[in-house]
Amino acid sequence: MHSLVTGGAGFIGSHLADALLDRGDRVRVLDNLATGRRENLHPDVEFVDGSVADADAVARAVEDIEVVFHLGALGAVARSVADPRASNDANVNGTLNVLTLARDAGARRVVFASSSSVYGGAEIVPTPESAPLRPRSPYAVTKLTGDWYTRVFSDLYDLETVVLRYFNVFGPRQRPDSTYAAVIPLFAAAMLAGESPVVHGDGTQSRDFTYVTDVVAANLAAASAPADQASGQAFNIAPGEGTTLLELLDGLGARLGVTPDPVFVESRPGDVHRSCADATAARTILGWAPRVSVADGLAAYVDWIRST
Ligand SMILES: NC(=O)c1ccc[n+]([C@@H]2O[C@H](COP(=O)([O-])OP(=O)(O)OC[C@H]3O[C@@H](n4cnc5c(N)ncnc54)[C@H](O)[C@@H]3O)[C@@H](O)[C@H]2O)c1
Repeated sequence: MHSLVTGGAGFIGSHLADALLDRGDRVRVLDNLATGRRENLHPDVEFVDGSVADADAVARAVEDIEVVFHLGALGAVARSVADPRASNDANVNGTLNVLTLARDAGARRVVFASSSSVYGGAEIVPTPESAPLRPRSPYAVTKLTGDWYTRVFSDLYDLETVVLRYFNVFGPRQRPDSTYAAVIPLFAAAMLAGESPVVHGDGTQSRDFTYVTDVVAANLAAASAPADQASGQAFNIAPGEGTTLLELLDGLGARLGVTPDPVFVESRPGDVHRSCADATAARTILGWAPRVSVADGLAAYVDWIRST
């Protein structure tokens, strides 16, 4: 298969590109290196250096492609609060470019990276896909817009589409040194440096942490799932286990041989308190199941961050 991974120089996209190459696919990556890194690119990847917001770059990237995995986006709630227009440009205009130009180029399927943030502060936890969609940040609005566009395209045009709603993904290549780094890299880096990890809120907020190879497996399953069941649908991708930030600190501390000594600061605007998936649909329709526990994933992450 000839696949395109947008955002393929980033954390999740680069693992996906590696897995596609491993199974014998030809892989093209479209990425503008906004947060991704050239060193994440496998030498066998064909790299198009450009933005999903640039229609010409997207048109070049989708040529002769069968399946597009669309992960290229500006992540992070806090970034979108600081600069909503930049997030909208990459995530909304970019997604519309990918969908229309993939359709025009005759691609078979687009698999879109959506987010648990579309649910906002969900009242039903574990949260099924049918729960009300109540985005609470510009980032979440952009992901919901892309999610909705992607589902609608399968009804209107000759294009199969599958939406995957990732929860909190973690694993090697997730860096602690970017402005909007995620919580596991930040906690691990602070503890490794002998500093106090900074906890926003009281640490009782929980997240459904998902190891990156499980998200890669969900993408591969989404690319081949039967269109009559999967196309036009959204699927939660997460183990369905809430882990609080305090539990996370303990888990990381145990692995690092450090007793966590966190400092607590005020909650961040737009953050939700509890996030946990009901992933029954992914299990039954995509045949997907998580394979890596949070504890094993943290161990692999600690090994990676120690080696960098
Ligand atoms: N990491 C998570 O927990 C998580 C959770 C839910 C959804 N997601 C989604 O998964 C996808 C990948 O996230 P990630 O964690 O690997 O982040 P990441 O920042 O490592 O990867 C995003 C990639 O997209 C690229 N990119 C950004 N703007 C672009 C543009 N305009 N044109 C082309 N490329 C662009 C970046 O350079 C980067 O390589 C994103 O769509 C994100 O919204 C991630």
